[in-house]
Amino acid sequence: MRHKRLFSGIQPTGELHLGNYFGAITNWVRLQDQWDAIYCVVDYHAMTVEYDSDTMRRRVLEVSALLIACGLDPAKCSLFVQSDVPEHTELMWVLSTLAPMGRLQNMTQFKEKSEKNADNINLGLFAYPVLQAADILIYKAEAVPVGEDQLQHLELSRELARKFNTRFGETFPEPKQLMTEAPRILGLDGKSKMSKSLNNYIGLTETPEQVWEKLRPAYTDPARLRKSDPGNPDICNIFTLHKMVSPKELVLEIDRACRKAEIGCIECKKNLAQNLNNVLDPIRSRYSELEARPGEVLDVLAAGKERCRRTARETMDEVREKTGLRP
Ligand code: TYM
Repeated sequence: MRHKRLFSGIQPTGELHLGNYFGAITNWVRLQDQWDAIYCVVDYHAMTVEYDSDTMRRRVLEVSALLIACGLDPAKCSLFVQSDVPEHTELMWVLSTLAPMGRLQNMTQFKEKSEKNADNINLGLFAYPVLQAADILIYKAEAVPVGEDQLQHLELSRELARKFNTRFGETFPEPKQLMTEAPRILGLDGKSKMSKSLNNYIGLTETPEQVWEKLRPAYTDPARLRKSDPGNPDICNIFTLHKMVSPKELVLEIDRACRKAEIGCIECKKNLAQNLNNVLDPIRSRYSELEARPGEVLDVLAAGKERCRRTARETMDEVREKTGLRP
């Protein structure tokens, strides 16, 4: 029996961080056993903000290698680069004729990125969610593992699937989101979402020394001025990260000791650093192995491209037929 299909994507815009990992990638790895899983490095999307061509080429390979190092297994899933399957942009055009301008104007990410790139608010940035819908629908994916920040885009994907089906006949499933138990990891400032652009992140390939340099000054419960002040783990981002990486008994103990002011923030962070490094160590070492054998990553991407192109072409044939374009 054919497994149900899922799709997800990630931008090659910088180093992958703990937000990407705990918000999405851990799910990608887990779900590849149960689904026909397709994962994509979305370089077309990354072109919507200022970028450098050589850096982009390098980062596409780095992100692909890092995803494999995190546990994506090419024997279980497909991993490919978006621009290797140009049918994504072809379907995007068709979907863009169904996408209301007003909906796109109200997208939170569009508004945020427009503010940050005020001198480069381009059509691609505006149409970004339509390309994202095309990424998903071209494979008729039924589910999309993402973090919380992508839910609005996913809602639009469902809307466009519905509109297409009503107008041209049943074609696309309405993709549902799959989220981890940590769909919104905060940055080290404890305030905004962890993100590449805010520089409030811990990267997956950072050394233990770099991890500690960033963790040591990280924001905790602001009411806790001295070690003798009792803390509130419920509002402390360091505690949230503990829940992602530390053994259950330690999490319970930290919860108790923090509330009773029996453990200070620095000791708590030292424990976290150790457990975080236990998770990152194997990723870092697999990543440096892959860096030494770039041919392996290229082979994985070539196989992913072949497979995805075939499926994407089938969908486009059907779309062309249904929309009245020439076969
Ligand atoms: P991107 O590259 O910003 O992020 C990749 C994945 O990581 C998740 N994520 C987070 N989750 C929790 N906490 C955080 N702080 C955090 N930061 C990032 C994101 O939710 C995402 O799941 N538009 C997408 C890429 C994309 C895509 C798609 C995704 C293009 N086409 C089709 C799904 C399906 C993006 O920019 O993700």
